[in-house]
Amino acid sequence: MAEAEVPVENKPELPIENKPAANEDDDFVDPWTVTGKSDTGIDYDKLIKRFGSQKIDYELIQRFEKVTGKKAHHFLKRGIFFSHRDLHSILTLHEAGKKFYLYTGRGPSSESMHIGHMIPFMFTKWLQDIFEVPLIIQLTDDEKVLWRDLKIDEARKMAFNNAKDIIAVGFNPENTFIFNDLDFIGQCPAFYQNMVRIQKCVTFNQVKGIFGFGESDVIGKITFPSIEAAPAFSTSFPFIFDNKVLPCLVPCAIDQDPYFRMSRDVAARLKMPKPALVHSTFLPALQGAQHKMSASDPNASIFLNDSPKQIKNKINKFAFSGGQATVEEHRMKGGNTTVDISFKYLTFFLEDDKRLAEIKYQYESGEMLTGELKREAINVITPWVQQYQQRRSKITDEMVESFFKIRPIKV
Ligand code: TRP
Repeated sequence: MAEAEVPVENKPELPIENKPAANEDDDFVDPWTVTGKSDTGIDYDKLIKRFGSQKIDYELIQRFEKVTGKKAHHFLKRGIFFSHRDLHSILTLHEAGKKFYLYTGRGPSSESMHIGHMIPFMFTKWLQDIFEVPLIIQLTDDEKVLWRDLKIDEARKMAFNNAKDIIAVGFNPENTFIFNDLDFIGQCPAFYQNMVRIQKCVTFNQVKGIFGFGESDVIGKITFPSIEAAPAFSTSFPFIFDNKVLPCLVPCAIDQDPYFRMSRDVAARLKMPKPALVHSTFLPALQGAQHKMSASDPNASIFLNDSPKQIKNKINKFAFSGGQATVEEHRMKGGNTTVDISFKYLTFFLEDDKRLAEIKYQYESGEMLTGELKREAINVITPWVQQYQQRRSKITDEMVESFFKIRPIKV
């Protein structure tokens, strides 16, 4: 990072961003809480307005296909990755044959990861393959110590185990570096130096405005945003980027945007490239679109280590249905795919556009019943989870260590 530090007093204040929810009728989205107010779930268009990001529209998707020469991922076509900041600049960069890097992360948890956790990683893997760029994955075990009742060593262990779940998505140590904060930061002075540069740019008032921190929050929380921001600057990893300044693209769920609004403000002041972003929606909980899938509620989630029987039972028992109360009524009125969770899951996991359109038509016309739609979802998700489990069973401790080793990777 360039030394562009001027005395703190002379610095203009960062704009204080809106609180995550502007008023009581709005959905609530911040890094810790996600709640939609209606049964169709979060109003993502409203969120784009509130956060000040850009919609990923038809034109951008066309340009994406033109620049990369690849068909857009179904997550893009179906609005699952729906919002961005500066994705056009990344495409322009790629067109000019210039490099950037990808950065994403995860706050490790003790529970098994669920299929919703995989969405950003699946998309990141796809981006990495298309653009042939290096990837950095941050595991914020420190974040979990600060926010949860967890000891340092427990959090470090969780990070190591979660890394296996992430690696099983299909990443390669040749161009992917994974680190957990509690072990890595102490070994990398450049990372810590960037953290301090960031910390010097943001006041308590500003983090209060962005994250809603209060007077009685522990001071670790107040500085934590600088730790999630630092990997968005290539100079934090001199062993990879050799102190070169490379732009960064961050795929993440929309709830992480506050960290990167802050990072982008800071970047401008440190004369570094602002990180670009692509934001995903949330995979809804089985019970309905008001809540995202959550690791702490076993009946709300399909876990990566669930058996075929568990998957089947959970979907049959809990997946909120947009069907009508009786078969007669359903045949007459048809089902509602905008609230139906089995259908929502199909939009995430069924790649075949034609088949998805057929199912939508048949369900909405009443030709397909709820039980049949649930069977479609079970038949798509079960093999997906089984294939994932096969890859996961082959991940060894040694493999994890090869990703964590501080080393140059292919840039
Ligand atoms: N705070 C994130 C979480 O709790 C983890 C994270 C760290 C992250 N860096 C990131 C997520 C970058 C997306 C992009 O899951």
